[in-house]
Amino acid sequence: MTKLNWGMIGGGEGSQIGPAHRLGAQADGNFVLAAGALDVDAEKGRAYAQSLGVASDRAYANWQEMLAGEKDRTDRVDLVTVATPNSTHFEITKAFLEAGFNVLCEKPMTMTVEEGEEIVRVAEASGKICAVNYCYSAYPMVREMRHMVASGDIGKVRLVVTNFSHGHHGDATDADNPRVRWRYDPAMAGVSGQFADCGIHALHMAGFIAGDEVTSVSADFASTIPTRTLEDDAMVNFRMSGGTVGRLWTSSVAIGRQHGFDIQVFGETGGLRWASEQPNQVFYTPVGGRTQIMEKGEGSLSDEAGRLSRVAIAHPEGFPLAVANIYVDLAAAIRGETRSALPSASDGLRSMAAVYAAVESAGAGGTWVDARPPMFR
Ligand code: NAI
Repeated sequence: MTKLNWGMIGGGEGSQIGPAHRLGAQADGNFVLAAGALDVDAEKGRAYAQSLGVASDRAYANWQEMLAGEKDRTDRVDLVTVATPNSTHFEITKAFLEAGFNVLCEKPMTMTVEEGEEIVRVAEASGKICAVNYCYSAYPMVREMRHMVASGDIGKVRLVVTNFSHGHHGDATDADNPRVRWRYDPAMAGVSGQFADCGIHALHMAGFIAGDEVTSVSADFASTIPTRTLEDDAMVNFRMSGGTVGRLWTSSVAIGRQHGFDIQVFGETGGLRWASEQPNQVFYTPVGGRTQIMEKGEGSLSDEAGRLSRVAIAHPEGFPLAVANIYVDLAAAIRGETRSALPSASDGLRSMAAVYAAVESAGAGGTWVDARPPMFR
């Protein structure tokens, strides 16, 4: 199979998410890093791209140069990953889609609902793929949960409870550290802090596993460190279109929690539980029965969970290879196969609509607010 050419914007040396994309995109041999504008510092970005094997004429100073340099090449990149800070996602993603490139955008896809709707429209008009990196949905055992729910193994889903809470911004003496402070500053982060940063992963996961869409939210936001404008803790109740009840807690001041992302799905005939710190297992309890531990790599799992596992049972694959699974599905989609589990621009838009609804609700004492994007109502 011919390798696909891949380009990356952002994710430079020392960035948080850049390495996971490079490991992920190249793990299965589908993509080769052919072009990049990796850093806000042009020279640093060009030098780093070349150190990763990018030819000097495709190691660009910025994304505008990359767009101009790639668009007329016969070997132009088949996929562009946008891994820059949030406020730049919209203009970069839009520009590359309009020029006919496939795009994988980091979350949150945009800063506003209107921008999100614009990306959905542009993606549709372009006929290109616009995916959003809700990478936790690509863990094999998360796909297994989705398969079990769709197969009716736990009956109709009554309730989803999910948390994405860590304690890494819980030190008040570190609150002024620039790498921390911007996340709670509306000028840099937008209307929401922790919910838009981590909560939307959990909200996406709830809809992804339940096979349903969030329709309304009622939120309570708190800035537990008083110098913060945006919330560092949020409790969000939600409802889904099929009547499923949802509860979501997200926090960055939960000292002692490291990467506390977990989800429980309770149906009429059983319950499922998964946690990102123990991603190889799903705990399944049939009503009236014993809890069973299902393990990544078991022979009896669905085809979907099986195809996304590479190493033998009980060996961890972890976060970069969950990101790799997004790239596996992207490569297949670029080659013309259907990949319905790939998080899309519509998912990115739904998240942004939920963020704005939660902000409105929290500001109005927790009143229920319609969380559907206007274009999907
Ligand atoms: P970071 O601050 O660690 O790195 C950002 C990188 O982008 C740096 O290399 C910087 O030089 C570069 N950059 C900034 N502006 C640029 C521009 N205009 N053109 C080219 N490069 C530019 O940020 P981090 O934590 O890696 O986050 C980046 C994005 O990834 C954010 O949107 C964040 O929400 C998302 N993210 C997603 C995760 C996931 O689980 N899907 C996890 C962590 C971050």
